[in-house]
Amino acid sequence: SSSGNGFPNVRRKPVIIIVVGMAGSGKTTLMHRLVAHTHIKNIRGYVMNLDPAVMTLPYASNIDIRDTVKYKEVMKQFNLGPNGGILTSMNLFATKFNEVISMIERRADQLDYVLVDTPGQIEIFTWSASGAIITEAFASTFPTVVAYVVDTPRSEDPTTFMSNMLYACSILYKTRLPLILTFNKVDVAAHQFALEWMEDFEAFQTAASSDQSYTSTLTQSLSLVLDEFYNNLKSVGVSAVSGAGMEAFFKVVEASADEYMNTY
Ligand code: GTP
Repeated sequence: SSSGNGFPNVRRKPVIIIVVGMAGSGKTTLMHRLVAHTHIKNIRGYVMNLDPAVMTLPYASNIDIRDTVKYKEVMKQFNLGPNGGILTSMNLFATKFNEVISMIERRADQLDYVLVDTPGQIEIFTWSASGAIITEAFASTFPTVVAYVVDTPRSEDPTTFMSNMLYACSILYKTRLPLILTFNKVDVAAHQFALEWMEDFEAFQTAASSDQSYTSTLTQSLSLVLDEFYNNLKSVGVSAVSGAGMEAFFKVVEASADEYMNTY
């Protein structure tokens, strides 16, 4: 069936959830929680790890880049440092990504979601050719959404909040996929303030004006620019530690997948 997303052969299931986030946002802990939730609720999920350098994962994955590419060997063979090693490992994996897609297609009838964990260094995935190739391969075959994990307590600082939103904005416009602002650690700080700032830029400007620095002036100007961006976003509060917000998260994923099928 044809849809509005420009990829005529996209099927409705499974939904691909690409999980990205700044270091320390709690991405790995959240992945673990999401995987546990799918088990408890009998949601049929597949788990994919795209971080070649991760030592141990707290959850079991069905597809793991480490089974195909040996990061340490790649570093030695090409005489690379840690980031170059991760990037080259992803490039090698990207050349075989059609096999990964075929594997998911063969199991599509038995799957609701594919949860994709990305390298801890966010820009290695979001700003690399292989990251783009992998994202495009997913999005041309299945509805694909990006879950951008935010460290909520740290984002109570207006300047940090703004930096985070600008980064999310750049990912939205680069991938052109539905983006879910996933406010993590709500057990420590509720994300209500973030919703207010996104709803009402004057409220944000008031918060930012308590800081008289140049950054604060810049932050206030940027808040006007981001107003339009917020209109294109969905958001949800979660806690990887307490498990709060899991049902809400998958609801937002479903809504984003519908959006993908209808409007892209
Ligand atoms: P990678 O970059 O993938 O290694 O993960 P990460 O750095 O994004 O986050 P990680 O899962 O390692 O979590 C970072 C820290 O935040 C750890 O100390 C976690 O225990 C903590 N953390 C993660 N999620 C939550 C949460 O929901 N609530 C609280 N209170 N702490 C959390």
